[in-house]
Amino acid sequence: MPASIPMMRGEQPIEPVRYLIFAGSLRRDSYNSRLASLAAVAIRANGGETDLASLADFDVPSYDQDVEDQEGFPPGAEEFRRRLEGCHAFVVAAPEYNNSIPGGLKNAIDWVSRFRPQPFNERHGLLMSASPSMVGGNRGLWALRVPFEHLGARLYPDMFSLAQAHLYFGGDGQLAHEEIRSRFEANISNFMALVEASERYPCVKRAWVEYLGERPEPSLDRVD
Ligand SMILES: Cc1cc2nc3c(=O)[nH]c(=O)nc-3n(C[C@H](O)[C@H](O)[C@H](O)COP(=O)(O)O)c2cc1C
Repeated sequence: MPASIPMMRGEQPIEPVRYLIFAGSLRRDSYNSRLASLAAVAIRANGGETDLASLADFDVPSYDQDVEDQEGFPPGAEEFRRRLEGCHAFVVAAPEYNNSIPGGLKNAIDWVSRFRPQPFNERHGLLMSASPSMVGGNRGLWALRVPFEHLGARLYPDMFSLAQAHLYFGGDGQLAHEEIRSRFEANISNFMALVEASERYPCVKRAWVEYLGERPEPSLDRVD
């Protein structure tokens, strides 16, 4: 649905679905930041609203529970929460470090996981990665699923990983291969279809409950 044609419910225009998009890299020429920018363009082309952020916006010190207890949350964590709560869903383009999650990204997630209500809970998410390697950072995304799913995020099953990113980004910043570009765009529009269905048709909504076999203990609970 083009952004210029608002969907209507009776006489009322329907509020567009909003997406927070950011890369898990601080590097100036980050491939993952390029992927995040392309995701924002694709989401807008499909009628979504976007908030394109940078991991630098969510800059936080190493998590320390003493600091949290004595000083509260750092501004970067407050900002991450504020922008998550301003959106219905999020998209992360994350590099793979040593087959896993980049420490800076995990640290930001850890800080935000301490807010109540916990803002990842029940929020839809799409994961992407780009790497010069042949695997495209995909192993890092499987690692990234673990904390997000633990926190109750509704992660889309398909993930996009761009292998050999140094070859497949054209000089114009676009994906320089028709088949890869159409896979990327399909991944985004399929994700958006699910998010929009769940936002607009609450009957689609289901509680995603994981039974951990633990006795209830508020101090250990991952969500309210
Ligand atoms: C500490 C570190 C560990 C890395 N480990 C991996 C890895 O396990 N797999 C991989 O594909 N690339 C790895 N890389 C290479 C990154 O994919 C590459 O630096 C990439 O450009 C980072 O993403 P960015 O361009 O968005 O910053 C690693 C890079 C660093 C700095």
